Amino acid sequence: MAKQFDVAVIGAGAAGMMCAAVAAQRGKRVVLIDHAEKLAEKIRISGGGRCNFTNVNTAPANFLSANPHFAKSALSRYTPSDFIALVKKHRIGYHEKHRGQLFCDESAEQIIQMLKAECAAGGVEWRMPTKVESVEQFPEGFLLSTDTGDIMADNVVIATGGLSIPKIGATDFGYQIATQFGLALIEPRPGLVPLTFDGPSWETFAPLAGIALEVEVETSSGKGKTALKGKFREDLLFTHRGLSGPAILQISSYWTPGTPIIVNLLPDMDVAETLIEGKGTFKKQMGNVLSQWLPTRLAEGLLDANGIALDARLADMQDARLRKLGDAINRWAIVPAGSEGYRKAEVTLGGVDTRELSQQTMMATKVPGLYFIGEAVDVTGWLGGYNFQWAWASGVAAGTAI
Ligand code: FDA
Repeated sequence: MAKQFDVAVIGAGAAGMMCAAVAAQRGKRVVLIDHAEKLAEKIRISGGGRCNFTNVNTAPANFLSANPHFAKSALSRYTPSDFIALVKKHRIGYHEKHRGQLFCDESAEQIIQMLKAECAAGGVEWRMPTKVESVEQFPEGFLLSTDTGDIMADNVVIATGGLSIPKIGATDFGYQIATQFGLALIEPRPGLVPLTFDGPSWETFAPLAGIALEVEVETSSGKGKTALKGKFREDLLFTHRGLSGPAILQISSYWTPGTPIIVNLLPDMDVAETLIEGKGTFKKQMGNVLSQWLPTRLAEGLLDANGIALDARLADMQDARLRKLGDAINRWAIVPAGSEGYRKAEVTLGGVDTRELSQQTMMATKVPGLYFIGEAVDVTGWLGGYNFQWAWASGVAAGTAI
């Protein structure tokens, strides 16, 4: 005999635990199912083990989605202050690190324990590890066949996240269920991911692994309503296979294959103007001039890539060549060969098309009783605590509505 619940939440990650706790504390009979051996691994490894659990500056503009308006409702009804109040209630120490990003003082494990305690307060039943083999809808509700017994539930919430980091349990389950119930998907792709480069134009930069500097980076693709434009000022890191660091992770979510990213390696300086004006005063060799402002190995690489000898004298350089070099530094345009993929991506862009869901409740409008929350949905935040805030807010939206 299948056990009967008001709500079955599949996926005990950030969004799933939040949703289960809220629904259960409202008196619903909730079962929370996850196939993993270890609870909420993604929270555990997040923020370098300290979980960047929200961003106090959260606004809809910090999210990517085919429908940028979709996230507004849930985000406005459950804000960073609401989550901070929960963190305070559980006496978890936290601090702001950078641009509104809040981290645990001690460990991400505290957030997991907090969510577990909130689930326990509502009497959530756990099925973990449990594999859901099928989800079918009948007039009496949804039947979930699992490897630990059948479950009947009036409502099913899909909180199985995206495809990033398959080695800790990411699956395409959410997309499969959406497809099974006739819901459209926005094609998933890796986001917040290092970019890779190859070919002759990258040869000069490949040996620069380990160099980091603050840059401004931008990209744009598409036209009109579908145009994606991103611009960030953050740190960039040269790696053995390409570029990483917060600037690159952020821009990767806006990048589409085949298009360039434009990096301003000295965002506070018009390099060409400074060099041309400095011809009289900087009686130095080009290598020395550039390494006043840039890490020496990078300065040397840039000169090499532009065919300028390290010992060429600034005073002897033609203005046109200096303008070209200035452009190469202030507007370094490079086309990534690809990305490090889901193996290294912090999030998955795309997912269940928001046009299929109610923005108030997260329920599929065509399939009453079926909800999608968290990263499974086509709402993806910037780096910096925004993705967890979406997980909490969408989890609360569904947990309150069911
Ligand atoms: P989440 O992935 O958390 O949970 C999904 C759950 O579903 C998992 O427990 C999984 O086991 C389960 N599941 C999957 N398939 C299943 C199936 N078929 N059957 C049953 N269960 C299934 N964000 C942020 O805001 N601040 C940060 O500091 C970080 N840091 C960070 C670091 C790293 C390395 C990564 C990879 C990601 C981050 N993120 C982040 C992103 C953040 O972790 C992510 O957006 C949220 O965890 C998404 O929450 P969800 O609950 O939607 O999915």
